[in-house]
Amino acid sequence: MVKRAISNVSKDAVKDRYKRPLRDLRISVTDRCNFRCVYCMPKSVFDKKYKFLPRSDLLSYEEIEQVVKAAAELGVCKIRLTGGEPLLRNDLEKLIEMIANVEGITDISLTTNASLLTLKRAQSLKDAGLQRLNVSLDALDDKTFMAVNDVGVSVQDVLDGIENASKVGFESIKVNMVVKKGLNDHSIVPMAKFFHGTGQILRFIEFMDVGNSNAWNLSNVVTSQEIADMIDSELPITPAEANYKGEVAKRWSYNDGGGEIGIISSVSAPFCGDCSRARLSATGSIYTCLFASSGHDLRKVLRGEDTRSVTQALREIWTPRQDKYSETRTQVSVLRPKVEMSFIGG
Ligand code: GTP
Ligand code: 5AD
Ligand code: SF4
Ligand code: SF4
Repeated sequence: MVKRAISNVSKDAVKDRYKRPLRDLRISVTDRCNFRCVYCMPKSVFDKKYKFLPRSDLLSYEEIEQVVKAAAELGVCKIRLTGGEPLLRNDLEKLIEMIANVEGITDISLTTNASLLTLKRAQSLKDAGLQRLNVSLDALDDKTFMAVNDVGVSVQDVLDGIENASKVGFESIKVNMVVKKGLNDHSIVPMAKFFHGTGQILRFIEFMDVGNSNAWNLSNVVTSQEIADMIDSELPITPAEANYKGEVAKRWSYNDGGGEIGIISSVSAPFCGDCSRARLSATGSIYTCLFASSGHDLRKVLRGEDTRSVTQALREIWTPRQDKYSETRTQVSVLRPKVEMSFIGG
C-alpha cells in the first residue's frame, strides 16, 4: 500500500483544546441505505414510515466543495465519503472530481457496502479520482450475512463488488467487519482465512454504541484482544507499526507474509487522544465526535444566513472542541441522544 503523506502544510492549521489538529473530514452524502444492518439501521426504527431527508435538505456538491476548500485551508488532507450508502447519491463521481481538485487534499476514500459496485461504477469512481475503498462485510455465509443486512443481499454480491474494485486497481481495498457477540463472532476466523494473502486488508471493528437504536451493551462486544487471540491461534500475527499518528485501526501482520489485518477497538482501547476527525452531515452540520448529540450548522454559513466565512466558522467549531467520548464511556451506553450512525456515516 502506498504510504500517504497526511500532513497538509497549511499555515492556518487549527488545533482543538487538547492540541489535536483537524486532518480528516468524513462527509456523509446521504442518510439513505439499501441495507438495514441490525447494528446500524434496524428495521424496527428505519421502517417504511421513517422520514429520510428530503432532497432539498441535502448540501449540493458545490456547497460540499466549499466546505472541503475551507477545511483544507485549516489543515485537512484526508476526505472520506460515507452515507448511509454513498453510492445511492446521484453522480457521486462529479463530487469526487471536484474534491480531487482542491489544493491540499491528498487522500480521497469511500466507505460502502459494495452491493451497487459494478465494474463500470468502480471504474468511473477510480477515473474521477477516488483512491481508496473500504467495504463493509460481516460474514461469509449467507445465513449470517443476511441476518445482519436484513434485506436479503448475498455474500457473493458484496464479493463481486470487491472483485470489481480490485480489477480497476484502487490503491487500497479494506474490508470492515463489525463484530457483535452471538451474531457473527463465529465468522472471525473464516473471514481472516478468506482474506489472508489477497492484499485486501480485513479490519475487525468492535461493536459500538453509536446512535440510539442498536440496543448496545458491553456484553455484546468481542474485545480486540479476544479477536487477535482467536486469529493468532490459527494464523499467527505480530503487531505492526501504525502507518501514521492517529490511525483508527491497530495493525497486525501475518507471520507467514500473508499481509495484514486491522482491529478497531473504539470500546476496549479508545483512540480519542489522537482524533483529528470532523464529520459533515448530508444536511451541512459539522459533528466534532461520532457520538455527539448535536452538530454545528454550516448550511446557514453556506447559504449566507450567517455572515462568517466557512473557514472562520470551522475554526470556531474546532478550537473549543473537547470530545473524548470513547474514553469516558462506561459499561452502559451514555443515556443522552446521539446522532445516528447512518446520518453521520461512521
Ligand atoms: P482509513 O482511512 O482507511 O483508516 O479509514 P477509517 O477506518 O477511518 O474509516 P471507515 O469508514 O472504514 O471506518 C471504520 C470503522 O472505524 C467504523 O466503524 C467507524 O465508525 C470507525 N471510526 C472511524 N473513525 C472513528 C472515530 O473517530 N471514532 C470512533 N469511535 N470510531 C471511528
Ligand atoms: N459499531 C461499529 N461499527 C459500525 N458500523 C456501523 N455501525 C457500527 C457499529 N454500531 C461500521 C459499518 C461501516 C463503518 C462506516 O461503520 O459497518 O463499515
Ligand atoms: Fe447501511 Fe452501512 Fe449502516 Fe449497514 S452499516 S445499514 S450498509 S450504512
Ligand atoms: Fe474521535 Fe469521538 Fe471517536 Fe473519540 S469517540 S475517536 S473523539 S470521534
